[in-house]
Amino acid sequence: MNIVFFTGSGISAESGLQTFRDADGYWNKYSVEDIATIEGFRRNRDLVNNFFNEYRTLIKNSQPNHAHKMVADFVNNSGHNCTVITQNVDDLFERAGVKDNDIYHLHGQITMAKTVNKGLTFHIGYDNIKTTDRGEDGSGLRPDIVFFGEMPHYLEEAAELISECDVLVVIGTSLQVYPAAGLIDLLQPRSRGIVLDPNCHELDLGSKWDKIAKKATEGIDDVIDLINI
Ligand code: APR
Repeated sequence: MNIVFFTGSGISAESGLQTFRDADGYWNKYSVEDIATIEGFRRNRDLVNNFFNEYRTLIKNSQPNHAHKMVADFVNNSGHNCTVITQNVDDLFERAGVKDNDIYHLHGQITMAKTVNKGLTFHIGYDNIKTTDRGEDGSGLRPDIVFFGEMPHYLEEAAELISECDVLVVIGTSLQVYPAAGLIDLLQPRSRGIVLDPNCHELDLGSKWDKIAKKATEGIDDVIDLINI
């Protein structure tokens, strides 16, 4: 079977990375406009680079949890044709064993930087970005994160994978950010949808979806059992 795992920040919550819109979420503490828009970056590069430097250090010091590991094991060993499509910029799936060819980061990766002028991207690992840094094109650097108002990466690939999958598993996303959230509407009537999220009953998903209202680490085994039925 073709299986897609479509994930958001909820899957990394139990690794100590806050989500964005829950009560203790980042966007309840920081202004999205200041931190995650190109206008905010132009107004105050230090503020944006420092936010993502702190976030990068938090990710460096975090560990993949049981949900990341179960997904990685399933992708690598189930014998199905599996892909992870994530809105997350952390590298916890890769550290759990998901190979680069099996994962698409729609909103960028925290371990990558981008030059301001030509958008040249390169790997920085967990290094900080300093506003005095210069890239190959002589311009300053920003995190290679998709800011609000910018186009996500791999939309075409993700659309094709989801419209052709037999099972779509949605884990830990509020499905509020478009165009990423719109991808799940491409699930075909013949295919199955499974959602794992403690608040999944608040999500606008049709009756055909299997809903598991649990935290990722508590419900991931149920998801795997459901796929194997
Ligand atoms: N396990 C599973 N799901 C969880 C858990 C958990 N332990 N804790 C919270 N959740 C769920 C919440 O119920 C919510 O549905 O995770 C979801 C988090 O939603 P958001 O905070 O909106 O995060 P996300 O959907 O990933 O945001 C999408 O918005 O801020 C931008 O670019 C950023 O990629 C991000 C995008």
